[in-house]
Amino acid sequence: MDADKFFLDLLSSAALTHALAIGCRTKLIDHLSDQPISYETLAENTCLHERYVKEWLGAMVCGGIVHYKKEQSRYCLSDWLTSYLGGKKPSIFFTQSMMLTHYASLEDSLVSAMRQGTGIPYEKYGEKFYSIITEIWKPIYDTHLTSGFLDKDKEIINKMKSGSNVLEIGCGRGNTLHQLGEKFPLSQFTGVELSVESIRYANKRKKTSGNVHFRVDDAHEVDYTEFDIVIAFDTVHDLRNPMAVLQKISRSIRDSGIFIMLEFNLYSYLENNIGNPYSVLYYVFSLMHCIPVSFSNNGAGLGATWGREETNKMLTKAGFSSVKMLDTPRIQNCLYVCRV
Ligand SMILES: C[S@@+](CC[C@H](N)C(=O)[O-])C[C@H]1O[C@@H](n2cnc3c(N)ncnc32)[C@H](O)[C@@H]1O
Repeated sequence: MDADKFFLDLLSSAALTHALAIGCRTKLIDHLSDQPISYETLAENTCLHERYVKEWLGAMVCGGIVHYKKEQSRYCLSDWLTSYLGGKKPSIFFTQSMMLTHYASLEDSLVSAMRQGTGIPYEKYGEKFYSIITEIWKPIYDTHLTSGFLDKDKEIINKMKSGSNVLEIGCGRGNTLHQLGEKFPLSQFTGVELSVESIRYANKRKKTSGNVHFRVDDAHEVDYTEFDIVIAFDTVHDLRNPMAVLQKISRSIRDSGIFIMLEFNLYSYLENNIGNPYSVLYYVFSLMHCIPVSFSNNGAGLGATWGREETNKMLTKAGFSSVKMLDTPRIQNCLYVCRV
């Protein structure tokens, strides 16, 4: 292994990731296409200073994301990226680059938390966290929520079609429930969430159908007795006391109720995650966000990497007699469908 090359590649990728995140925030990426454009026009179209735009383009060109047409001094997206995006924007990799740089802005708090064995409260990640997480997950739900995730177990869809009382914990800005509310008018949907701003946002986006409700509430405090289906997408590992919440759900959900949890498709043992192309990303996200938010309340610090074996064990211990772990069209995620 050439160590110098390894570290240079590493630094270059990290630098390019930051530049990409800046390009997403400033909409530079959105204003690029397969049609060549000058940096002056790109600067004008994005209301940015020309000098910055030229330097950003330099990084993008040398990083292989943008193609430079020397004869015309114009820039366009690289061919491979144009065909990868297929006219759609943004890619999940772009938005994840924004999340990574956002997490990096909390590095001082993280280092101090690591030294003291404390955490970082959710509020400190701010509204920017919720805006990026929505950008990451919304396109995924738009594509897979009812075709790839929930339809993996036909009873879920049948129950929603015929009219059920459905709760989502950690609903964020309401991406999932807005969609489900429209698709299943006979069901009632309630989303609970710690973030006041996200609930305000979710309520603003609410359609007139009237079967979707959002409120600020803590998943540890919710009364689960009135619900037939409880959903938790990318949320349980962030909780202060996941076991208490899982037990509460299993003990109080209505008869023949279903608990549905979306988590990351990793193993609980590190050695089995080596070589998985997503492992580094999720260990780092977990380090920079999932563990500190859970630790901030003296929590369990499960982390996004708690993995299949631990998850199965915990769900069974929490009182679910049937736990099905289902693959999804996204190899990064698996779905747990649990019954009492
Ligand atoms: C990683 S985000 C996922 C958001 C959303 N489920 C999605 O997929 O877009 C986890 C969410 O859980 C919320 N959350 C964390 N702890 C919570 C708690 N104790 N009660 C309710 N919501 C909580 C966070 O505010 C955040 O919105």
